Parts: sequence; C-alpha cells; structure tokens
Amino acid sequence: MSSTVIIGLLAAIAAPVFGRPGTQQVAAYDAVPSLSVPACPQLGSIKYSQSVPDKSPFPETQVDLCYDDTSLKIDFTAYDEQYFYFNSSHQMNDPIYEYEVMECFVYRGTEDPQTYLEFEVSPNNVTWHAFIYNPSKVRASGAVFDRFFITDPALDGISAATTLDKTNKIWKSSISLPLGFFNVDNGAANGTQWRMNFFRTITSPEIFPNQTLGAWSPPDQANFHMSPFFGHIQFV
Ligand SMILES: *[C@@H]1O[C@H](CO)[C@@H](O)[C@H](O)[C@H]1NC(C)=O
Ligand SMILES: *[C@@H]1O[C@H](CO)[C@@H](O)[C@H](O)[C@H]1NC(C)=O
Ligand SMILES: *[C@@H]1O[C@H](CO)[C@@H](O)[C@H](O)[C@H]1NC(C)=O
Ligand SMILES: *[C@@H]1O[C@H](CO)[C@@H](O)[C@H](O)[C@H]1NC(C)=O
Repeated sequence: MSSTVIIGLLAAIAAPVFGRPGTQQVAAYDAVPSLSVPACPQLGSIKYSQSVPDKSPFPETQVDLCYDDTSLKIDFTAYDEQYFYFNSSHQMNDPIYEYEVMECFVYRGTEDPQTYLEFEVSPNNVTWHAFIYNPSKVRASGAVFDRFFITDPALDGISAATTLDKTNKIWKSSISLPLGFFNVDNGAANGTQWRMNFFRTITSPEIFPNQTLGAWSPPDQANFHMSPFFGHIQFV
C-alpha cells in the first residue's frame, strides 16, 4: 500500500473524531468509560463517586443493568443519601430534577447521539421521562433542544419501584424500559451496542435550589446533555 493511500485512510478514520467541535470533546471521547451488560439475572455493575464538572468526591452511586427478551432493567442505588429531598407536589414529568433524582440517558448505537431517552426517578418514586432532541449534542446555547414526553409509561411497559432505607442512608430505585423503544426486537438484544450516562443530583432544604451533581462519565460542564461523554455499553 502506498503511503498516499495510508495517509488518505488515516484521514478518513480520524475525520469523525477531529471534526468534532472543541478539543475538550475529543479528549473526552477517547476517555469515556465502557461496560458489558449480561442477560438477567446476571448484572453489569458500575459505581461512580465523581462530581460534575470538577470530578471532586461525590457520594457513591451504583447502577446495575441487565437485559431480557423485551426489556432493559436498571437498578439505581444512592449511598450516603442524607436528605431524600423531593417536592411532594410534583407528579409525573414535573421538574423533579430541581430536587434529588437519579437519571439515565440511553441510546442504542455507537455514535454520540442527538436523540436519546432521558429517564429520572425521585426518592418518592415520581418519574420523568422524555425522548430528547439535542442536535448540537451538547445543548449548545441558542441551539434547538426539544423533548417528547412519555405520558403513559405503564402502557409502554415502563415500570419503576423505589425503596428508602433512611437508617442506612440508602435510596434504591429499580426501573424497566422496553427494548422496543430502541428498535431492539424481542430476543435480539445480545450483541447490541449502546451509549449511556448515569447521573445523580443532591440538594437539601438548606442549599436548594443549588445542587451537587454526580455522573458515571462526568461532562466538563454542569450540563448533563453532552452526548460525547456518554459511556459505551455492550450487551453480551
Ligand atoms: C413544589 O412544586 C410546586 C409545583 O411545581 C411549586 O409550586 C412549589 O413552589 C414547590 N415547592 C417548593 C418548596 O419549592
Ligand atoms: C412507584 O411508581 C410505579 C409507577 O411508576 C408504581 O408501579 C409503583 O408501585 C410505585 N411504588 C413504589 C413503592 O415503588
Ligand atoms: C447557591 O450558590 C450560589 C453560588 O455559589 C451562592 O451565592 C448562594 O448563596 C447559594 N445559595 C444557597 C441557598 O446556598
Ligand atoms: C450472547 O452472544 C454471545 C456471542 O454469540 C454468546 O457467547 C453469549 O452466550 C450470548 N449471551 C446470551 C445471554 O445468550
């Protein structure tokens, strides 16, 4: 192979990476974490304890995932939870993210997505769920940013369950999402590749509306909607 061809090939391979806006995103893309997720009842597990964006210590947070023929199961566990702080007036799809939530952002594919599912749950088991359209991939100021709410989660096969253990400062929420949301047909999940990120917000009556933010793959701004930071996940 001539050197001209090799340079041409390298340029073609490198273009999608170096074509990204902003050098920080290129670095983040190379560094994002990955995880293999097995079929249930086995679990793929991560723990994170870094804040967004400065990666300072953050209360440990665990996420366990597995898949079956029709659904993706995600268990969120918040350790060292001191406040269990939520707004008791909030109902489904109200701004629960202003208080304490655990969240997943989920996309099936390998690219940095423009469209992905955002799912949140609060300590009183209220949920927030929408498909996001974020064509700038970083929720750039002035760019389009839209959301399409899921208004009947039970109909779609979404479930959630929450238990609080205030003595031991643990909050656990378990959710199930239909694989059909991501165009994975029944029984066809093995081998699929995903981009996801997981987040937790902490606030209290004393510091509200300020929050401390944590993530599995911390973005470099206090902004969860930066899909180049989503980690890589394989179903195995
Ligand atoms: C709780 O939410 C309701 C409805 O969004 C809002 O009117 C109220 O001010 C909130 N309460 C607090 C303490 O922020
Ligand atoms: C949590 O909410 C779901 C509906 O989203 C419901 O099915 C479940 O029973 C609720 N309660 C608890 C304690 O998890
Ligand atoms: C929220 O954070 C801002 C900026 O750090 C600070 O000035 C303000 O006092 C904080 N508010 C509360 C209620 O802690
Ligand atoms: C998924 O596919 C791989 C490769 O074919 C296989 O080794 C593995 O056992 C499969 N997993 C399940 C749960 O069937």
